[in-house]
Amino acid sequence: MKYDSILDVIGETPLVRVAPDVHGLRNIDLYAKLEMLNPFGSVKDRPAWNMAREGLSQAVERGDSIVELSSGNTAKALAVIAAMHGLPFKSVTNRMKVPEIKDLLLLLGAEIEELPGQTECLDPTDTEDPLTRMYRMLTEEGSGYLHTDQYFNPRNLDAHRGGTAPEIVKDLGGRGPDIFIACVGTAGSSTGVAGVLREHNPAVSVVGLVAHKSDFIPGIRNIDEVNEVGLFDPANYDTIESVTAQEAIDGMLTLNRRCGMLGGPTGGAAYFGAVRHLKEIDETLTERRTAVFIVCDRVESYMSYVRQRRPELLRQPPRADSVDTLTDAEAAAAVSVDVAAAREWIERDRPLVVDLRGSFAYSALHIADSVNIVDEIFDELVRGGLPFGSSRPVLLVCPVGEKSARYAALLAKLGHRDARSLRGGVVAWRDAGAPLVRD
Ligand SMILES: Cc1ncc(COP(=O)(O)O)c(C=O)c1O
Repeated sequence: MKYDSILDVIGETPLVRVAPDVHGLRNIDLYAKLEMLNPFGSVKDRPAWNMAREGLSQAVERGDSIVELSSGNTAKALAVIAAMHGLPFKSVTNRMKVPEIKDLLLLLGAEIEELPGQTECLDPTDTEDPLTRMYRMLTEEGSGYLHTDQYFNPRNLDAHRGGTAPEIVKDLGGRGPDIFIACVGTAGSSTGVAGVLREHNPAVSVVGLVAHKSDFIPGIRNIDEVNEVGLFDPANYDTIESVTAQEAIDGMLTLNRRCGMLGGPTGGAAYFGAVRHLKEIDETLTERRTAVFIVCDRVESYMSYVRQRRPELLRQPPRADSVDTLTDAEAAAAVSVDVAAAREWIERDRPLVVDLRGSFAYSALHIADSVNIVDEIFDELVRGGLPFGSSRPVLLVCPVGEKSARYAALLAKLGHRDARSLRGGVVAWRDAGAPLVRD
């Protein structure tokens, strides 16, 4: 096949059947839409190009920068598109969680601006988080930015309405699938595809997949965050189900090893969530059904993600001492204290207060005399054993008290005698009007 530009290669991705002996479903044909085969590597190539192309010639004329709030695949595709057109690209994000993607963005010439989110609790008197402020600035006329705005831009949906969905319908002979399963990030792909599928088959059932509470699966929202997304409309889905990071890796391994599809953890989550959902209905079916899920991107960028969660897969010793490997019972054993009890305890026993938030949020406001050890670094420290004496009282603090509870449970498991978590985190502390100091 011959093309004039790599941008013309975006789309027309294959729909490949998963062998029945792999998924074990008796009455359902399951197909993978291989969006990882787009030229820049993901499902986001389509919206990135569709959103950027609109204002591109004007941006080139004015020398504007392309900018997007993304730390992953949208940023990657936009970084390439910007570089191809001689424009700077800036990625504005919360903390970057996938180091390989960060490195790739830098390699492509992107500028990365990492800002803390509102949940990191910067300033109690400020109702607007830095991302929101940045967002407003980007959208102002004459800002010098072409802001592609993936969380609100209808061209994100249109990329899938005009491309991904009709391709699926055509490949399935004109009617489309009976069940469609997709992970939800901006909700662009799931919403855009589902709308068109319903036009062809009003009975299609749409399953949206999100990450399990306080779990991280690259590119998608967790169950608590999904309602914050501008393009997300719960009415678009027949059901929303969650997948854990471990399940996503299990699904990924099946795709990689048994299907020969080198999808990443989010594609793995889609496969795992699809098969789990379909198994529930498979036995009740009296007619054959067809289901489609999306494999959004490739595995290669996620080696550190896998190493952190399943080191044995990379022939490394298992991480017994990690928050990721705590059992539910171990996690439930965490000692949490509310703000009043924490204040009393600090006053009386002077525990070491460890703030696990990012350094930006910490330096803006924190509990007096606390130390800042960002959770990823704390994780590394704990991997080497207890970072302080086992009888030294420790109060762990994070944005909303979920992460700190897991670390308190982990310290207890390692033999620490008095590690407690601040219930509700800095947000609860702030809401209770307790004092915070600034560096
Ligand atoms: C790896 C990956 N999978 C899935 C998605 C979800 O796609 P959407 O934003 O269309 O909901 C994204 C979005 O960034 C992603 O990066």
